[in-house]
Amino acid sequence: MSTVTPIKNKGFGAAVTDISLRDLDDEDVTTVKAAFLKFGFLVFPEQFLTLEESTAFGELFGEIQFGGRHIANRKPLDDGSFENFEPKDQNMMGILGNQNWHADSTYMPVSAKCGILTAIAIPDEGGQTEFADMRAGYAALDEATKKRIEGLSAYHSTQVSQAFDNGYFPPKDTGTIFHGEAYLRRLVKTHPETGVMNLFIGRHAFGIPGLERHESRELLKSLVEFVTSDPVRVYSHDWQVGDTIIWDNRALLHRARPYDYRQPRVLIGTRIAGDPVTELAYQRTDPEAEAGREAVTKELELLREETAGQGFRWQEKLTY
Ligand SMILES: [Fe+2]
Repeated sequence: MSTVTPIKNKGFGAAVTDISLRDLDDEDVTTVKAAFLKFGFLVFPEQFLTLEESTAFGELFGEIQFGGRHIANRKPLDDGSFENFEPKDQNMMGILGNQNWHADSTYMPVSAKCGILTAIAIPDEGGQTEFADMRAGYAALDEATKKRIEGLSAYHSTQVSQAFDNGYFPPKDTGTIFHGEAYLRRLVKTHPETGVMNLFIGRHAFGIPGLERHESRELLKSLVEFVTSDPVRVYSHDWQVGDTIIWDNRALLHRARPYDYRQPRVLIGTRIAGDPVTELAYQRTDPEAEAGREAVTKELELLREETAGQGFRWQEKLTY
């Protein structure tokens, strides 16, 4: 019989013990699904899931967007050792970018329902994964701010976030995450399963229609800062090898913390697609996609001008 223990001194999150994620009975599944919706994220210590087991656990929650993939600053080899990635490897760029608060796949037509991480190797220090509660963040906003953001939406693009956060401008490549599209999502979201309202923001958001560029940037920044300003709304997970965490991407922000990149940090990631009924912005073939494409093109042009000469800002950290 599994035990669900709320995380101490936080307004969200729980640890689930006396459970084996590779061997769940119906009662466990019911408990885990209910706790997932209530607490927003769940920590399962000592699971040691494989790539396949991580995917199988994810399948309980919906359609797999990607399953059992290494999220790592080193490529794990079959003999248990690790191979360096090339500096500026796209995988490493994603890892570095995601040290900024974000929700997953908001830059895709359908944003993600939830994510699952399992720790395989962890650095001596740093490398935590942190979560922030956008439900409590929204609830704590003053009425004037709630009113101001009520009808607002922002475009989401990881071409923009990678350019803005890292000075990284990969070429447009349809079929990859650098597809040249931006997806418009409301700043305030009603959770499709709980009905609870939350902010829906993060590093991929930009270009709120109807606002000046600097106003949009300041508003989005201030909302993330507000959500993360109260320690009760932020949880930092110090990984132990074997831990598994699942979180609700529709209601929580997350980020990774820096560490010594010469040490391996290897996680298994599985991502579950959102329900298109509630998580679809639009398809790239829809007429409204055109405004998103224009917004990305314009924003990237401006970011290129602003960052001209600065180059790739993580270069030194990646020299190993
Ligand atoms: Fe992420």
